[in-house]
Amino acid sequence: AQLAGHASAWEGSEAALPAAITACTRCPLHCNATQAVLGEGPLNAALMIVGEQPGDHEDLQGRPFVGPAGQLFDELAIDAALDRQSAYITNAVKHFKFRPKGKRRIHQRPDISEIEQCKWWLDAELAQVKPKLILAMGATAARALTGKGTAIMARRGTVETSPAGPPVLITLHPSYVLRQTDPEARKTAQNLLRQDLAAAVAFVR
Ligand code: URA
Repeated sequence: AQLAGHASAWEGSEAALPAAITACTRCPLHCNATQAVLGEGPLNAALMIVGEQPGDHEDLQGRPFVGPAGQLFDELAIDAALDRQSAYITNAVKHFKFRPKGKRRIHQRPDISEIEQCKWWLDAELAQVKPKLILAMGATAARALTGKGTAIMARRGTVETSPAGPPVLITLHPSYVLRQTDPEARKTAQNLLRQDLAAAVAFVR
């Protein structure tokens, strides 16, 4: 599916966007999530960072990248001299998708139609922030922003063009790094992500 060309029809004001996202019922994910997790950061940021969707912690706290993936991101960002506060950080999908397992909530990947429904909001955020570069972390963000759903590893570290937006630097998702159980594989993935964060900083400098 070509998602990237769908310009948002959102015509509301900058100030009205958060409330509109909070009230969103465009896809069923709002039914079970605690809340929509809004993007955060300066609306004139040169760098927009896009993840997949809120996780368990983000869903409860209402902020992007505050759980384990966010902690790893923060550590690598420091190494890469990427100032999180100066970037706009958001997700391709704004509600947490999970399946209950006992007391736990197990993350589930958003499907194409959920990504597509939520692209409406991502496009609205892009129209506000107008970043010089988007950093797409992981396959969901890459698909939402470029329309291409092919494997990430071969694409990471490269800048792709999106039909109607700024260039997109593809990188690994911090959760992918955390999922590597082999220490060497984890170190390798972590180094690649750190390298791409540094490349994003250099690009917008
Ligand atoms: N993973 C994401 O993609 N986004 C978050 O906000 C947290 C974890």
